[in-house]
Amino acid sequence: MVMKDLRNVRIDYNLDSLTETDVRKNPQEQLINWMDTAIDKKIPEPTAFCLSTIKHDLTVSSRIVLAKEIEDTGLIFYTNYNSAKGLDIAKNGSGSAVFFWAELQRQVRIEGELEKIPCIQSDSYYSMRPLDSKIGAWASPQSEIIADRTVLENNFKKYKEKFSKSDPGRPSFWGGIKLSFKTIEFWQGRQNRLHDRIKYRKKNEGWDIIRLAP
Ligand SMILES: Cc1cc2nc3c(=O)[nH]c(=O)nc-3n(C[C@H](O)[C@H](O)[C@H](O)COP(=O)(O)O)c2cc1C
Repeated sequence: MVMKDLRNVRIDYNLDSLTETDVRKNPQEQLINWMDTAIDKKIPEPTAFCLSTIKHDLTVSSRIVLAKEIEDTGLIFYTNYNSAKGLDIAKNGSGSAVFFWAELQRQVRIEGELEKIPCIQSDSYYSMRPLDSKIGAWASPQSEIIADRTVLENNFKKYKEKFSKSDPGRPSFWGGIKLSFKTIEFWQGRQNRLHDRIKYRKKNEGWDIIRLAP
C-alpha cells in the first residue's frame, strides 16, 4: 500500500466570511443560525460534535455525540450516565465541544461546565424516541467490557420482551447532559489561511465579542 502524500492535501477556503458585526448578539442565536444552515444544506450528521471530558487521572478523552437541544445557556446531548464520559463528568464538570462542518468551511468550539439536566427534561426527550432506541438504552451497558456481540443482542431481546406490553420508562442511568456556554468561538475559513475567528466570552449577564488571530 502506498501512503498518499498528506502534505499535498489542501483546499482553498473561500466560501464565506464572518465579522464582529455579522454575528448575533448572543452565542445561542449564532449557533442556531449556523446549525440551521448545516441542516438546510444537508450536511451529513449536522448535529454531531466532538465532546472532550477530563478523566480521573486528568488525561483527556474525546468522542462524538449528537446535539439535541440548544438552550440560551448551553447545548444538550443524551447519554448513559454510567458510561466512561458519564463518570468523567460526575467527577469533573469541565468539558469542551467542537463542531466541524467541512462543506461550509466552519468550525465551532465551545468550552464550559457539564451537568445533568432535570429528570423531567430527559423524560420528555426519551418519550419522543422510537421504541427500539428506547430499548437500546436499556440494553447497552455503555463503555463496559462485554464478552461478545451476543450479550447486546440477548439484552435487546430480553428488554423487547419485557416491554412488549408496556412502554419502557426512561432508565435512571440514561439522560441529558448540558454543556454550558462559557466561551464559544465561530471559525470561518478564509483565503490565504487568514481565517475569521469570532469568540464570545461570558461577561456578567452578557457577552464580550472578540476576534482572534487565525
Ligand atoms: C455519529 C455518532 C453519534 C453518536 N452519538 C452519541 C450520542 O448522542 N450519545 C452517546 O452516548 N454516544 C454517542 N455516540 C457514541 C460515542 O461516540 C461513544 O462511542 C460512546 O458514547 C461511549 O463513549 P465513552 O465510553 O467515552 O462514554 C455517537 C457516535 C457517533 C460516531
